Amino acid sequence: MSIAPPPTPLPPPTPWKLKHLLGLEELSIQEITAILDTAESFGEVSKRSRKKVPALQGRIVFNLFFENSTRTRTSFSLAAKRLSADTQDFTASVSSLSKGETFIDTAKNIEAMGADVMVVRHPTPGAPHLLARHVSSSIINAGDGAHEHPTQGLLDLLTIRKKKKKIEGLTVGLVGDISHSRVARSNIWGLTKLGAHVILCGPPTLVPKCLEKLGCEVAHRLDDVMHRLDVVNVLRIQFERAAGGQFPSVAEYSHFYGMTQARIDMARSDLLLLAPGPINRGVELTPEVADGPNSAILEQVTNGLAVRMAVLHLLSGKFDQKPSEMGL
Ligand code: CP
Repeated sequence: MSIAPPPTPLPPPTPWKLKHLLGLEELSIQEITAILDTAESFGEVSKRSRKKVPALQGRIVFNLFFENSTRTRTSFSLAAKRLSADTQDFTASVSSLSKGETFIDTAKNIEAMGADVMVVRHPTPGAPHLLARHVSSSIINAGDGAHEHPTQGLLDLLTIRKKKKKIEGLTVGLVGDISHSRVARSNIWGLTKLGAHVILCGPPTLVPKCLEKLGCEVAHRLDDVMHRLDVVNVLRIQFERAAGGQFPSVAEYSHFYGMTQARIDMARSDLLLLAPGPINRGVELTPEVADGPNSAILEQVTNGLAVRMAVLHLLSGKFDQKPSEMGL
């Protein structure tokens, strides 16, 4: 394989000792920073004409998705390919789970095929943690119910850091269905560890006051906090987790919490608007806002690929490689 010349040196991931990525709650500030720094280096690879590096040659990455996904599944798959790993998708709906095979037995069979890494999305909180106790492969949590979605949290952090040149000291609003959102939880852990002030905003049924225990401010009137925000992350109503029953109607929700141009105009002109996707145009945000100048929604997706390359590399433990041996 021909390797392009190195663009930037890879930051040393020396604090990294973890085998799994299960959540941002478990990570130290140094580990989060090492992932973000490594992702910035891998972001350079995606700008080359030849976008492949040999970092994970010979490794096998399995995607085990028990819930639908567009961004996470495809970007993990592409990230593994860009690192020269062999990749395989497992689709629960056409698997032998329908014949009564258990979740753990399924994973043990995949382990027996030599999987070095399993990327797991599951509707049950804690499902990736369970696998981490039963198989020897590295486990990456790609979203477990309403618990955590660590790579989404990391790509949100990377997008903020790239756009604002810092995270510490920023005021970040997470708006919408916080109760059912794994993205909210990963954002809360990551942002508070890196020194941001987090305001959780939504109806009391979806943003209970007890969330202040996580070190956040809780607000229920979006119009009162818009002017304080450096960043707003607009979260989807998790209808699949019964969130729709917790406010009178979608129209009423949109009236009080929808991100409209009028609300953007209440904020600073350099407000950074994020949304993890999928976005529901006309519900949580209007099309003009989603596609407007404050929005970094598609940059988040680009950064997600770099973050997933970084996580796959760091979990592989191949730290003895020189940057030139990795194609960096
Ligand atoms: N943001 C996110 O997790 O999107 P997908 O469900 O499409 O993976």
